[in-house]
Amino acid sequence: MQPLIRKYIPKTEKDIIGQEENLKQLKNFILNFKNQKKNSALIYGPSGTGKTCSVYAIANEIGFEVIEVNASDFRNAEQINQKVGNAIKQQSLFAKGKVILVDEIDGLSGREDRGGIQAITKLIQDSAYPIILTATNPFDNKFSSLRSKSNMIEFKALDYMSVFNILKKICENEKIKHEDVVLKALSRRAGGDARAAINDLQNLTQGKNELTKESLEELSDRNKTDSIMTALNKIFKTTDLKIAVSAFDNVEEDLNEQLLWIDENLPKEYTKPQELAKAYDMLSKADVFNRRIRRWQHYRFLVYINALITAGIAAAKNEKYKNLVEYKPTGRILKIWWANQRIAKKKDIAGKIASRTHSSKKEILKSTMPYLPVMFKNKEMRGNIISQLDLNDEEAEWLKSQVK
Ligand SMILES: Nc1ncnc2c1ncn2[C@@H]1O[C@H](COP(=O)(O)OP(=O)(O)O)[C@@H](O)[C@H]1O
Ligand SMILES: [Mg+2]
Repeated sequence: MQPLIRKYIPKTEKDIIGQEENLKQLKNFILNFKNQKKNSALIYGPSGTGKTCSVYAIANEIGFEVIEVNASDFRNAEQINQKVGNAIKQQSLFAKGKVILVDEIDGLSGREDRGGIQAITKLIQDSAYPIILTATNPFDNKFSSLRSKSNMIEFKALDYMSVFNILKKICENEKIKHEDVVLKALSRRAGGDARAAINDLQNLTQGKNELTKESLEELSDRNKTDSIMTALNKIFKTTDLKIAVSAFDNVEEDLNEQLLWIDENLPKEYTKPQELAKAYDMLSKADVFNRRIRRWQHYRFLVYINALITAGIAAAKNEKYKNLVEYKPTGRILKIWWANQRIAKKKDIAGKIASRTHSSKKEILKSTMPYLPVMFKNKEMRGNIISQLDLNDEEAEWLKSQVK
């Protein structure tokens, strides 16, 4: 079966939802190109909002040809001349109208690609056809000259009802069984990204042609690992410490898990021995600090660990590795470690009760521990339990997680 995202590429303007004003502007720019002050349009906004497909849909409707160039082609002046040089110069009487699309210029980095950005600027000056650029973030300094030469068209993240309408149409067409509430929940979680929403829909309904509430819940779990992969990708692939240091900001996994993820994947990414050693040095320091901080409960020092495992590891390399690595969780060890962690807390608490009640830990584990969460549920008792047993934050946290 072909991917839904392929099958439902918008063919005409009316297939594109929620960007009416932008489509008008874009179409006007292409059709009245000869009277424009600026030779190019810069479409910008988050991914999956229709930037690329709008260009194709409009061109298709007005019978124009799209010549698409990859931003990275501009790294090589010769390559780009070959690709667009002829296209922008030849203008035969019978030729079809053309637009030149340079998709995703974000890929050009300032330092390495100054030549590339210049090449695009030159293309804009010389072209006899409208040039359309797209970008996710055009406000980087390196794009300032491109911005001033372009008509700026902003594609905002789609609101969830627009995403819902896109998905609804696909469900009806594909005869996918669904409830609107579940479809709306799916739409909401896409965060205005129609591409992500369509891909999620396909993944969740593959093979059963039905969207269930349960499968949506599974997706939430899966996305958790997505975000830690993104975090690893940031740390491993960047040399910009500012980017690295925020890598774990939106990740749900706690520090212990982060350490395990890095430990598992670091040697696959850093293949130069010296850099790997430097990175592991950071990781081992983080691990030692982590244990000390927990032992002494100086939790506010945890932020320094974050710096070690993000910026510290990112800075261990001179340049990013170009290899593509699939990051994996430490399957078995991770699970055992977690199970031990959980049992360890339970045992610690049982030990505290045992010493205060002069009974055996084993006995407490059997007779008291099953009821402790029930007592802990009661606000007043909770305070007493914490103070009487002298529970630390982690133990109290664990006990709270046991309350049903
Ligand atoms: N506004 C929209 N209306 C309908 N479908 C959309 C819209 N935006 C994105 N899509 C869907 O997502 C896919 C990817 O869109 P695309 O134009 O490549 O996004 P962008 O270039 O903004 O990242 C399209 O093929 C289409 O199926
Ligand atoms: Mg695009």
